[in-house]
Amino acid sequence: PLHIGLLGAMPEEIGSDLSHLRQLTSTDHGDLTLHQGVWGDGVRLTLAWSGWGKVSAARAATRLLAAAPDLDLLLFSGVAGAADAALQQWDVVLADAVIQHDMNASPLFPRFTLPPLNRDRLQPDPDWLAWASRSLNAAQEAGELKGFGTVRPGLIATGDQFISDAVVLKELKAALPDLQAVEMEGGAVAQVAQQEGVPWLVLRVISDGADEAAAQSFSDFLQVYEQQAWSLIEALLKRL
Ligand code: ADE
Repeated sequence: PLHIGLLGAMPEEIGSDLSHLRQLTSTDHGDLTLHQGVWGDGVRLTLAWSGWGKVSAARAATRLLAAAPDLDLLLFSGVAGAADAALQQWDVVLADAVIQHDMNASPLFPRFTLPPLNRDRLQPDPDWLAWASRSLNAAQEAGELKGFGTVRPGLIATGDQFISDAVVLKELKAALPDLQAVEMEGGAVAQVAQQEGVPWLVLRVISDGADEAAAQSFSDFLQVYEQQAWSLIEALLKRL
């Protein structure tokens, strides 16, 4: 049976209700709780809410991987700010690459380059990416993703910054013209998984436009999203 790791920054981003899981156990590591359980026909899940930001995300990823040495895939799911005007609230971006937009060790390394990996963009395993893309499209055709918008692959940028300023977003897009969404954890989880040799995916639903209205949109969206978040996870799990 497959063993999937699930991380979200906040309970609302995976769905705080763990009643979908059987044989639920949990272990505390300081203020982080790892939940383990079984879903559906025997898919094993280890999940946690990391808290916001790259350090919290990297710490949770590391703890999760240590507790689940046989993990097949680490999936981060949550909400993000849109970096492309064509994206609307409820659209889904599946990362075909992630970048840490606040990493800058220039002039020693080019802007965005992660020194330990000597590259800026990290890309998920192509087979897992294709599987997720196929699964989400199939789920949408089957009417399982009520309320959600389009699903598209794209570049997601991570940084320790809630972006709520059109000027800041514009500067970022000037440096990263193909940028689709901004968030605060995905790139950190991807880096840990990559360095640990575990396949990863980052999935983000647009909650706001990373502009002056972002804080209000984000807060309003999360309240509604909490009820829908698990359907996105389930659309993937049932197609493993
Ligand atoms: N997550 C959701 N919206 C965001 C934004 N505007 N900036 C950073 N992270 C986000």
